[in-house]
Amino acid sequence: MHRQEGYMSGFGNEFATEALPGALPAHRNSPQRVAYGLYAEQISGTAFTAPRGQNRRSWLYRIRPAAQHGSFTRLDNGRIAAGFEGRAPSPNQMRWSPLPMPDAPTDFIDGWVTMAGNGSPGAMSGCAIHLYAANRPMRGRYFYSGDGELLVVPQQGRLSIATELGMLAVEPQQIAVIPRGIRFSVDVPDGSARGYICENFGPLLRLPDLGPIGSNGLANPRDFLTPVARYEELEGDFELVAKFGGNLWRAPIRHSPLDVVAWHGNYAPYLYDLRHFNTIGSISYDHPDPSIFLVLHSPSDTPGVDCLDFVIFPPRWLAGEDTFRPPWFHRNVASEFMGLIHGAYDAKAEGFVPGGASLHNCMSGHGPDAATFDKASSADTSRPHKVTDTMSFMFETMKPIVATEYALGSPQLQGNYQNCWAGIQKHFTGAA
Ligand SMILES: [Fe+2]
Repeated sequence: MHRQEGYMSGFGNEFATEALPGALPAHRNSPQRVAYGLYAEQISGTAFTAPRGQNRRSWLYRIRPAAQHGSFTRLDNGRIAAGFEGRAPSPNQMRWSPLPMPDAPTDFIDGWVTMAGNGSPGAMSGCAIHLYAANRPMRGRYFYSGDGELLVVPQQGRLSIATELGMLAVEPQQIAVIPRGIRFSVDVPDGSARGYICENFGPLLRLPDLGPIGSNGLANPRDFLTPVARYEELEGDFELVAKFGGNLWRAPIRHSPLDVVAWHGNYAPYLYDLRHFNTIGSISYDHPDPSIFLVLHSPSDTPGVDCLDFVIFPPRWLAGEDTFRPPWFHRNVASEFMGLIHGAYDAKAEGFVPGGASLHNCMSGHGPDAATFDKASSADTSRPHKVTDTMSFMFETMKPIVATEYALGSPQLQGNYQNCWAGIQKHFTGAA
């Protein structure tokens, strides 16, 4: 076995990396014979003819081709929802307490449960939002999603994600993105781990354009890290688990599929530390719209409208004078699934805790709770204030989000969530 760890910096760059010297062919993608007796294989994450700026593919030089494994049979665990079309979304505001850690031995794949989503893998549109809670490594198991790329947001405990293209070591307040089809195995070095996953069925996540912000700001490309090549040469009775068409499948495999000795291309996993986000806000009055917190997005065919936005609310200075500084009351055409990674969220005094989640669908009113409103309405705004010890995020979609039967029947669903606005007083002083 050969282990190599390290990262290459940049977003969507044309990377080239080899774990053995001379493994990468020069000037040809598929020479007649590859060094070290490797097989050449291309993985394409976009249509062959996608415009050059969005085209994503990589060439893998591996010990055995990806085709070599046994037949797939269904492996359904009853916790993963296949699709969301035809199900009724709810206008109710919803909030959940954290998913408990499992008692029984549970690996990263066993520990998935689908909370919500929209669209379907078959339509290549929409997303599924899962939670995971695991307490042991994937032993002899490898996984890939044929349905979408996986945006993994750890909330508690580190993850060691060994992928075909290299190793990602990710901790809370960092994210990992694993492209559709890339095979991987997950270890939990802290003994247990919990977090959120957004499975993006639509166009690949990318960095947003910056418009008048200019050429720097928000998530900077150099802070995205892609692993160097790393391979394992293992033989045994292993299992390859695939998520495909919303279902889990398993196939026997007699070797580790993480056997890519060298690769080059721009279709690869990456990690990003949310603490490196360059947060931008008002230095006079009011707030910009929360699109100013956009990290990555999956654009639709309509300019300015995204299938999926990944937005974060990191520590930041609030400087707006004569301004209600927490997030204001609002209703959106977009739908919002929110999670809290660390600390407290500045619009909620209680009830929204790390590992928890909330859903505010299209045009469902929401905003600060009564206690937060009262405090912020009388705060001194002549001085800036720093929001510290916080990291929350939002998966925001252009289509309504459907909560799964599991989410609606879960003991973690807070039946009294709407009460957080019940105590808001009428302050109207106009004449009757
Ligand atoms: Fe919102």
